Amino acid sequence: MEKINAVITGIGGYVPEDILTNEELSKIVDTNEEWILTRVGIKERHVLGKGLGTSYMGTRAVRQLLEKTKTDPMDIEVILCATTTPDYPFPTTASIIAHNTGMKNACTFDVQGACAGFLYALETGANYIRSGRYKKVVVVSGDKMTSITNYEDRSTCPLFGDACGAVLLEPTTEEIGLLDTFLRTDGIGFPNLHMAAGGSANPASHETVENRQHFVYQEGRVVFKYAVSYMADAAATIMGRNNLTKDDVAWFIPHQANWRIIDAVARRLDVPMEKVIVNIERYGNTSAGTIPICLWEWEKNLKKGDNLILAAFGAGFTWGALYLKWGYDGEKA
Ligand code: ACO
Repeated sequence: MEKINAVITGIGGYVPEDILTNEELSKIVDTNEEWILTRVGIKERHVLGKGLGTSYMGTRAVRQLLEKTKTDPMDIEVILCATTTPDYPFPTTASIIAHNTGMKNACTFDVQGACAGFLYALETGANYIRSGRYKKVVVVSGDKMTSITNYEDRSTCPLFGDACGAVLLEPTTEEIGLLDTFLRTDGIGFPNLHMAAGGSANPASHETVENRQHFVYQEGRVVFKYAVSYMADAAATIMGRNNLTKDDVAWFIPHQANWRIIDAVARRLDVPMEKVIVNIERYGNTSAGTIPICLWEWEKNLKKGDNLILAAFGAGFTWGALYLKWGYDGEKA
């Protein structure tokens, strides 16, 4: 029997219209354009309005995906949503998106892998396809990071924005698609990157709200150090065990947390910046949204057979890298 693999056959995306510039931020906290641009590389980020959750962006991204791939929502068998900012603790954001988009024949669940969530969800979705029992799987991935951003903390509030991407996975017997994955976790990261309240260990109370514990807490310097070394090691492992040199790689797509992290990882891998997809200056860190939004924006430039290396790092710490051989030419109209 021929080996079945999973390949991405389409991509949709959604970025909210409202923009928060560095200049506007500098009126909220003690910061400035020069610091944010040189230390992080962000010019502006998009912000989803009050009263709307991650499912709003996920629904828009999935609707576009279904249109572009001419797919009937009733044919989708699995929809999984990678997010750290679900609409509610329950039900899952995937179930809300499935309802909004008319997917009545799908199994739905959320995957929580922080900024590495897209890689975790993509590998999970691909395994449904590889099992041979499922033919159409949607992975929707993104975050409303501004809902957990503390606009009184200048060390974190310039970093985050909101966005969602969605991909369709289908079976193939060609040598394309998700060819290799390396995913890891190291719980050492907990003290350096977490949200202290709102979960079962420390449910919401007047005290947790007063102490501003419902926002991202980050020790930036520690996270920076681990992000560079773990992302570079993961990508190098994936490239090494697939005999890929920098010349074989068409595009390197790193998680967009900080331009300096991206630059340091690319240098360690010796991949020239012309091959590195970067859009952090316009969107900031949208957590599980960064890599699918890069793919969505670059779709028109991708060709069948292109070797893509994806790498991400986030809370946990969780991180990883993925080797993807792209499955089609240009943008699906
Ligand atoms: N504007 C102006 N000055 C600032 C600002 C600001 N917005 N923020 C901090 N500073 C100051 C600090 O007070 C400090 O001043 P001091 O030297 O007088 O004390 C100085 O700038 C340097 O501060 P650092 O925190 O050391 O700045 P650093 O260069 O480390 O940059 C940053 C901070 C951008 C957060 C960086 O550490 C980083 O990118 N870390 C990793 C982020 C990441 O990858 N996160 C993972 C994913 S996120 C997720 O999973 C949810």
